Amino acid sequence: NKALCKNGGVESVETAIKLARFYGFKEKGIPDGKQEIIVYDNNFHGRMITIVSFSTTQKYKEGFGPLTPGFKSAPYGNLEATEKLINENTCGILVEPMQGEGGMNIPPKEFLKGLRELADKHNILLMFDEIQVGMGRTGKTFCFEHENIIPDVLILGKAISGGLVPLSVMVTNSSLMDMAFKPGSDGSTFGGYPMACAAGLAAIDVMKNEKLPEKSYATGKMLKDKILDIASRSPHVKEVRGMGLFIGIEMKEGDAMKFCHKLLDLDMLANDSHGHTIRISPPLIINDDEVDYIVERLEKVLVD
Ligand SMILES: Cc1ncc(COP(=O)(O)O)c(C=O)c1O
Repeated sequence: NKALCKNGGVESVETAIKLARFYGFKEKGIPDGKQEIIVYDNNFHGRMITIVSFSTTQKYKEGFGPLTPGFKSAPYGNLEATEKLINENTCGILVEPMQGEGGMNIPPKEFLKGLRELADKHNILLMFDEIQVGMGRTGKTFCFEHENIIPDVLILGKAISGGLVPLSVMVTNSSLMDMAFKPGSDGSTFGGYPMACAAGLAAIDVMKNEKLPEKSYATGKMLKDKILDIASRSPHVKEVRGMGLFIGIEMKEGDAMKFCHKLLDLDMLANDSHGHTIRISPPLIINDDEVDYIVERLEKVLVD
């Protein structure tokens, strides 16, 4: 494999789109300009023009036209709808193996495996954006390990440098990387700058040495069980879902931010996801006392 380093996550998503389009052009003979990539409803891959062009959330793209063509969106988790969108111009599928901003959504079991099969059957690239859910967040180092498959392209950011300095990477096999990019055909001034890469290597060491994915799995399970107990007594909670330290609490009235503000009054910082879900995504180094801190505050806000 080879990794191409950039700064923010969105840049590596763009790099993956370039790779898939070039693959379509060069390897599949799709006329340049006709390449299509399948994405998913409620996706979030960043905020630059091409990326917001295929957002299905109006607020991310309104007023920023003209938008970039070449994307088709399927309902998240739906294999049948995905296959219906595939045609002779399809070169890639870009998907978050679990959706973060889109509402902390976990796809049905076998969805990722099904995508792998579709990609193989139709000779298209399968690209996983694990910027939010990679690096141990969901209880495995990489989210794709939950279904024991390997994407053609993996995109990582955020935690890849311990969240300390800007670093993102697009990883793919050597032959695809060499096919798509020659020296000078892609890059950026600060992409792969030494301090960011040093931080990245150190963060990977910490993740391995401190067994953070395993810790995320165990602590996440304990935290989710406690949240499920709170939810069973709360008049406000519709559903609790998540894996590892990636947990969403969906509110019946779709008013998650109201509860995030109440949590903030109790000195706990949590964001909402897609308006309807409270996102519980603490640092992977969280200890048992800190789990209790979260649970006490959720109890106060959701039950008392
Ligand atoms: C799944 C996913 N992709 C891409 C991005 C964009 O990353 P960045 O903000 O570093 O550009 C994010 C950011 O939240 C994300 O969650």
